[in-house]
Amino acid sequence: MDGKPIGVFDSGVGGLTVAGEIMKQLPDENLLYLGDTARFPYGSRGADELKRFTFEIVSFLQRGGVKMVVIACNSASSAALTAAQAHFDIPILGVIEPGARAAVQATRNRRIGIVGTQATISSGAYDRAIHTLDAGAKIFSQACPDLADFVEQGMVTGEIAKRIIGGYLESLVAAGVDTLILGCTHYPLLSGVIGKIMGGNVRLVSSAEEAAREVKEILTCRGHLRREKNSPTHRFLSTGDESKFLKLGTRFFGREIKRVERVSLDAGVAL
Ligand code: DGL
Repeated sequence: MDGKPIGVFDSGVGGLTVAGEIMKQLPDENLLYLGDTARFPYGSRGADELKRFTFEIVSFLQRGGVKMVVIACNSASSAALTAAQAHFDIPILGVIEPGARAAVQATRNRRIGIVGTQATISSGAYDRAIHTLDAGAKIFSQACPDLADFVEQGMVTGEIAKRIIGGYLESLVAAGVDTLILGCTHYPLLSGVIGKIMGGNVRLVSSAEEAAREVKEILTCRGHLRREKNSPTHRFLSTGDESKFLKLGTRFFGREIKRVERVSLDAGVAL
């Protein structure tokens, strides 16, 4: 069991921010990353569809022999984590609870902002997760339709980006939040602009670090950490165009991705 890979998936390349953090905290672990780029974006889809996608992908990764799955996508986590945990017999972790925990730890005035896709915000998943940890926290959320697409198009700096993001953040600045959850895998790439608009006293929180810490905890508690110390294998799979994944993925991952394999979810993963 300990040599099996950790499965990580997202609607595309955004979850590579989480995969990168897992690799940092667990440098000996094998990793199998799947980006469902053929069906990106997830954020405008309904909960039932996201549940179906999640079940398809977790089944696929399980056939690939993973020892646990990280749903490194806020939209899929908010729609499908509970159902997937109830259905599958391997540990499954989402990114909502880790992000909520990081925010509750970071806030001083207990006024927390959340930005995310329409699917994530309308699910109320972050609100529930935060209130489980601090029932008195005040939550202000804002859906940002199309913002993940802008990031994919490279619009992360400049006047247009500032204007669009400024519009989305206006109500959160007015609400006086001191902590803002970047509740979408793509938004850490906008943290420069978002930080400037929110002001230096507002802490920006993303789930990646906390999620990776939880992965480590789960594997440690179960005695499933990889024992071999030779170089681990990191594989990157995409349901869509490999070259687009390679180009975009390197930006999210912060290091070069050498090879991407195109897969069909109906088939298995050849180990
Ligand atoms: N991974 C998605 C999320 O975190 C990115 C946006 C999308 O697919 O719409 O919600």
